[in-house]
Amino acid sequence: MNFKQKINPKALPQHVAIIMDGNGRWAKGFGKLRIFGHQNGVTAVREALEGCIEIGVPYLTLYAFSSENWNRPKFEVNALMELLVDTLTKETKTFLENDIRLNAIGNIADLPENCKTKLKDTIALTKNNNKCILTLALSYGSRREIIDATKSIAKQVIAGKLNIDDIDENLFGNSLYTAGMPDPDLMIRTSGEQRISNYLLYQMAYTEFCFLKKMWPEFKRDDLFEAIYNYQQRERRYGKTSEQL
Ligand code: FPP
Repeated sequence: MNFKQKINPKALPQHVAIIMDGNGRWAKGFGKLRIFGHQNGVTAVREALEGCIEIGVPYLTLYAFSSENWNRPKFEVNALMELLVDTLTKETKTFLENDIRLNAIGNIADLPENCKTKLKDTIALTKNNNKCILTLALSYGSRREIIDATKSIAKQVIAGKLNIDDIDENLFGNSLYTAGMPDPDLMIRTSGEQRISNYLLYQMAYTEFCFLKKMWPEFKRDDLFEAIYNYQQRERRYGKTSEQL
């Protein structure tokens, strides 16, 4: 089926979030090192991004490295950081030509210096682009994000700059790393795992989930189109009844 053609352009998800899972298992299936999976995962990143550009999804957020991923073998962590720097270097031209703005969320301060510099430079170079905001979640953990937001709000209350009764969903949401971004409408996870692994916990209160069996390096833009088509067949009720919508 041609899912792209069947997508309703007026009901596109404004924000697609992805958990790119299964790189290691995919590589193992070929008798290769895990990093081979991550390297091929970059092709899938391109597919997802180009798919969003093609149909006009304005926000794409990718879980590229979780705060828990620091516990992986040093070799793999270093290789992932190098891959990030290499990819950003190679893709800057694409970002500029396609009006893509790079953004990053997470504890960016924990990243190696060359990664931080490359991220900062690419973010600055693309800051006026608007067609698609590509957010990389790096050294990201949602519980930590929520705790950071809570601390920052508490400090403002203690300093007398904020009244406790003014704390609402809007203020809390704007204290998260994702301030200013719409909540994800659709979250896709590859590799058959059905969990959200400390990803955008607050933001995904009403997100529609799509769990795919295929491994991340196998992900193609048609998978994105199919997921978006299926998302459009769902009824988002936000606690209301069907009749009330
Ligand atoms: C999860 O698969 C994947 C990661 C932790 C890293 C994702 C990184 C990339 C796709 C490449 C770099 C990305 C960018 C944006 C340049 P896994 O290793 O947990 O796989 P497994 O569950 O099979 O072990």
